[in-house]
Amino acid sequence: MVQVKATAITLLLASQVLANPLGPRQDSVGIDAKFKAHGKKYLGNIGDQGTLTENTKNAAIIKADFGQLTPENSLKWDSTEPSQGEFSFTGSDYLVNFARSNGKLVRGHTLVWHSQLPAWVSSITDRSTLINVMKNHITTVMTRYKGQVYAWDVVNEIFNEDGSLRNSVFYDVIGEEYVRIAFETARAADPNAKLYINDYNLDSSSYSKVTGIVSQVKSWVAAGIPIDGIGSQTHLSAGAGAAPQTALNALAGAGTTEIAVTELDIAGASSTDYVNVVKACLDQPKCVGITVWGVADPDSWRASSSPLLFDSNYNPKPAYTAIANSL
Ligand code: GLA
Repeated sequence: MVQVKATAITLLLASQVLANPLGPRQDSVGIDAKFKAHGKKYLGNIGDQGTLTENTKNAAIIKADFGQLTPENSLKWDSTEPSQGEFSFTGSDYLVNFARSNGKLVRGHTLVWHSQLPAWVSSITDRSTLINVMKNHITTVMTRYKGQVYAWDVVNEIFNEDGSLRNSVFYDVIGEEYVRIAFETARAADPNAKLYINDYNLDSSSYSKVTGIVSQVKSWVAAGIPIDGIGSQTHLSAGAGAAPQTALNALAGAGTTEIAVTELDIAGASSTDYVNVVKACLDQPKCVGITVWGVADPDSWRASSSPLLFDSNYNPKPAYTAIANSL
């Protein structure tokens, strides 16, 4: 009898391991669920059809450990409207359907950005033409996913390092007013989506880009521009210490209702560095969530610095375990 029971248990365990492509390393509770237990909305990651189908492990990790997805590339302008008025949603439909059918929130990234922007847009020199092109792009893309996207990065990387506004076709041809037009168009297209301004190097409270974005967003919000959130990309070097926490607190003072860490990766992926960022968001009431920018190191845009939570075999690295334990 004892022997039969032991065999049955062995078989049961073996079948669970086989049914679970994550293998025995997987916590019974993923880090997204643990993070949400502290009152946050999501601990997310990125994806697109390529990485989600490259093997079963990547998708399995996302299903088990992350509660939100940002398309890595498929919602950028060069993917969605490569030629004027000709929209293509194959890649973004895949990502949004994957997210929704697996119960994940979606962050829409991104509508107005100077990079990954088709040449037909960057060569426009007529102000009213560019305003109409920008409005049509925002309205068409957001309407397709109306009610399905938690938050949109309406504008991405519009600041210089000194806190002034970056020269881009949008700024140069339309002027600062492009920001108001973009956010008002976005609000009209999907009134329930949170509208974000997203940028990088917002990782230290005293840095000129942080003080610049805070005072600029304050004045835009006071002027009635519908900005709901600031996204801090948070692509960090090793050993940032407490700086990202002080920066998040500074960003929270800009007058938006929420903020988020939108593209987290950390050179070297030390446990201390990752746990510091997780704690920074936990401790700041306006921080709704964190998106890690990739699952396994080889798929990272910074692959040579091994900045993610899973290694090339999709095994969790020490920082993953440290985050799970800290939660
Ligand atoms: C920026 C963009 C992201 C991505 C990274 C590099 O941070 O916002 O969409 O392109 O660069 O991969």
